[in-house]
Amino acid sequence: MKIIRNSIELSKTLLVTSRSIGFIPTMGALHKGHLSLIETSIKECQITVVSIFVNPKQFSPNEDLDKYPRNEKNDIALLNSLAVDFLFIPSFDEIYSDDYTIKIQSESLFKVLEGNARPGHFDGVLAVVCRLLNIVQPNYLYLGKKDAQQLKIIQNMIEDFSLKIIVQGCQIIRDNDGLALSSRNRYLSIKERGLATSIYSALGMSHKYFLLGERKVGKLTNIFVDNLAPGLEKSIDYVSIVNVNDFEQCDDIIVDNSLLLVALFVGDTRLIDNVELKLK
Ligand code: PAF
Repeated sequence: MKIIRNSIELSKTLLVTSRSIGFIPTMGALHKGHLSLIETSIKECQITVVSIFVNPKQFSPNEDLDKYPRNEKNDIALLNSLAVDFLFIPSFDEIYSDDYTIKIQSESLFKVLEGNARPGHFDGVLAVVCRLLNIVQPNYLYLGKKDAQQLKIIQNMIEDFSLKIIVQGCQIIRDNDGLALSSRNRYLSIKERGLATSIYSALGMSHKYFLLGERKVGKLTNIFVDNLAPGLEKSIDYVSIVNVNDFEQCDDIIVDNSLLLVALFVGDTRLIDNVELKLK
């Protein structure tokens, strides 16, 4: 694996290849969720590029930028054990010029759910992803379905700007206890971690009732809330059902393939998760 820190060097190296490039952008603190995206790229593409960049622009001032886990040595060791071709670790200045003025924004999707809870977050995500895509120019981009809204927004950007990149949304990877893998899980105390596993079981319960024929949004979201570990219901940020195609909120009855999306705090840690509600 070649480690490159300079964007021009990476662009030049990749530009001369006619082989298919798969790209996995990350903020480091790699876990099995990232590794599964990387392994899929290695299977499907001839060259796999991973980036590690903790993007300050996607954190609000009150968020965890300073304490966000960073462990470059560990990450490099993990990636070395896979057949990754290039690891890109840019500095802030490699990504952002001092005086950039153009922002990419989406009218509706930026303002709901994560966009509402984390103002400016998706501006920052698109700012960095757009730059990374231009540097790497991959054929395939691998992203996890846990960040479902991020996946949708990046897909929209790629479509709207006619970028020739195929986005592969990959399944959520969970620990044995069901908790969706996230770099932020390491903030949880043992007790909090126990509570957090109820997010998955509660989602599973809503999903079960959906499969049994329940289509009322209110019923399915209540089932989620009722099945959380006692006390967690007080720290819910949102529980929402949206159409999987356009992320329009379903208010009453589910009539199309949908997603049940949740965000809540367990202690000080904000976790998100979701389950697909697929009509046959
Ligand atoms: O999902 C993430 O880790 C980040 O939002 C991403 C896509 C790497 C952009 O910084």
